[in-house]
Amino acid sequence: MLIVIVGPMFAGKTTELIRRVERYVIAGKRAIVFKPSIDARYDSSKVAAHNGLKFGAYVVPPDEAGVEAIGKLGLDYDVVAVDEIQFFPPSLADVLNGLADGRVVIAAGLNLDFRGEPFETTMRTMAFADRVISLTAVCKVCGRPATRTQRLINGLPAPRDSPRILVGGGDSYEARCRRHYVRPA
Ligand code: ADP
Ligand code: TMP
Ligand code: MG
Repeated sequence: MLIVIVGPMFAGKTTELIRRVERYVIAGKRAIVFKPSIDARYDSSKVAAHNGLKFGAYVVPPDEAGVEAIGKLGLDYDVVAVDEIQFFPPSLADVLNGLADGRVVIAAGLNLDFRGEPFETTMRTMAFADRVISLTAVCKVCGRPATRTQRLINGLPAPRDSPRILVGGGDSYEARCRRHYVRPA
């Protein structure tokens, strides 16, 4: 069973991943949570949500070696969860799809980058999913459901040519609805 939790930043993806993993732990299942080593925002060895919620995690590099480690270590568990899947190469999708034969796999990732382009690894994992949980945040401009993430530099939309990967939180990103998301120039 492969469950994918998807949405923009601040949608509650990490919170939902932790909530689901905790329930399996309570049920006596063996669970492991992975996160990419680039995400040291709030804690280096735990998955951390924007609201302070945390859960112990196994840190792996966001490359083919990390994907291979998830595929090998995951075999020994009933439940395998991976946060921030968008930072891993698309081969992660195939590895998670394989692990999902015989165990529960929960994957959380961003839908779109700040340019409004889909994250390939999230897309590929969604295609293999048995269930997709699509979450929205709250638009910082109007308060309606937000499906997009705006990167801001000094309060203005970051330009298209800024790097795709920039780890951050409310200091550099805002959740926006379709109407208030500004396509970077
Ligand atoms: P994600 O992993 O999707 O970024 P988290 O689970 O880390 O989300 O954080 C969700 C929390 O972020 C919410 O419970 C709320 O406290 C906080 N938050 C901050 N800004 C927003 C926003 N614009 N919309 C919704 N929640 C927000
Ligand atoms: P979150 O979904 O748990 O909020 O984390 C998303 C992370 O992805 C956060 O560290 C910011 C980063 N990010 C990028 O690197 N590039 C992007 O285009 C966007 C939207 C987010
Ligand atoms: Mg998160």
